[in-house]
Amino acid sequence: MTDSDSLTERTDSSERAPGTGSSAAVPTDVVAIDGPSGAGKSTIARLLAQRLGYAFLDTGAMYRAITWHFLERGIAPSECAGESDLGHTRMQTALVDAELGFEAGNMLLNGRDISAHLRTREVESQVSAVSALSFVRASMGDLQRGVAMQGPVVAEGRDMGSVVFPGARWKVYLDAAPSERARRRCQDFERQGRKVSEVDVLEEIMVRDRLDSTRSDAPLKQAADALYLDTTGLTTAAVIEQLLALVAGSGSDSSGSDTSSPRGEL
Ligand code: DC
Repeated sequence: MTDSDSLTERTDSSERAPGTGSSAAVPTDVVAIDGPSGAGKSTIARLLAQRLGYAFLDTGAMYRAITWHFLERGIAPSECAGESDLGHTRMQTALVDAELGFEAGNMLLNGRDISAHLRTREVESQVSAVSALSFVRASMGDLQRGVAMQGPVVAEGRDMGSVVFPGARWKVYLDAAPSERARRRCQDFERQGRKVSEVDVLEEIMVRDRLDSTRSDAPLKQAADALYLDTTGLTTAAVIEQLLALVAGSGSDSSGSDTSSPRGEL
């Protein structure tokens, strides 16, 4: 696994916010956004990051990229189920060889743009099992904290506020009714040219929710100090306005971050 520089070196240094160097021991200039699939986290987090001039960290894409990396090597969890160590030794070795980066919104794995593979059915069927592995989570968590050490970030995932950034200045838990989440996911798939039934998507969402929230390491859950926001029936613009008000209302300028210097997408 790579260190955080690989995630950030592709961002022009002029895009980094000043005053938030890596000298701080614990990153706090973080908007941590958690919630289940289809709650609108990615869209909201990306737009919020743009509005604030913060970097955007899509941690689901990181878990998907590692899942793809394992699939390419034939060591995804389903392929190693019969092995005595469930393939963990080989997975740990493969993890060391995986250098993740983001460039212009695309996910790079060892310099190769693998964005088109991240939402395939193969990846979707294995990503919950991969993200339940403690050694994978430890590695991703280190990388995510390393990114946030370099400047303000909007980070979205399942454990941003609860585990990776417990000291985050702002924490949000985005939720929506399962039927609404399935409808949104179907729209995403349609935009990608994939025809899927809403019933099937709802079923997949329920399965992933159960896997993500019952795993022993960093299960999906709302941090005690997170703002709970149900986005059912809300427009993206309305949610963004609420989050901008949250950030503005809690004295973010005391952090020393300067939102006039955008960091861009990591
Ligand atoms: O947000 P997403 O659907 O792209 O996430 C893909 C998977 O990765 C999902 O099953 C949960 C997992 N994940 C996680 O365990 N922790 C995170 N911080 C982000 C995603």
